Amino acid sequence: MLGRVNHIAIAVPDLAAATASYRDTLGAKVSQAQPLPEHGVTVVFVELGNTKVELLEPLGESSPIATFLEKNPAGGMHHICYEVEDIIAARDQLSDSGARVLGSGEPKIGAHGKPVLFLHPKDFFGTLIELEQV
Ligand code: CO
Repeated sequence: MLGRVNHIAIAVPDLAAATASYRDTLGAKVSQAQPLPEHGVTVVFVELGNTKVELLEPLGESSPIATFLEKNPAGGMHHICYEVEDIIAARDQLSDSGARVLGSGEPKIGAHGKPVLFLHPKDFFGTLIELEQV
């Protein structure tokens, strides 16, 4: 079912500081900050040779990462995104095996314009999993 790692997302309390750290201390190529109000985050992409890291900062009142940052005020790894070829087939197979798909269970359009779903972290060893159809 799983393909490549599409990205690893890190929630940060200060996006400008995190971006500067990745750019200046780690020497990585970073994008401009992109506000995604429909997802409640502002994102910076760190472009790596084999994958991406996404730095996420809360945007707006009901950001999905606000609670995570309350529990992890210094920031932390928020989710890992795996690519799948067919997100509906993946969802149905996971649901049949007892894994919990978050939200309505219907894919939403993610930060890259592709359909995504999230899986409950308690079903996968404490890690929130995003599936993205590519
Ligand atoms: Co993501």
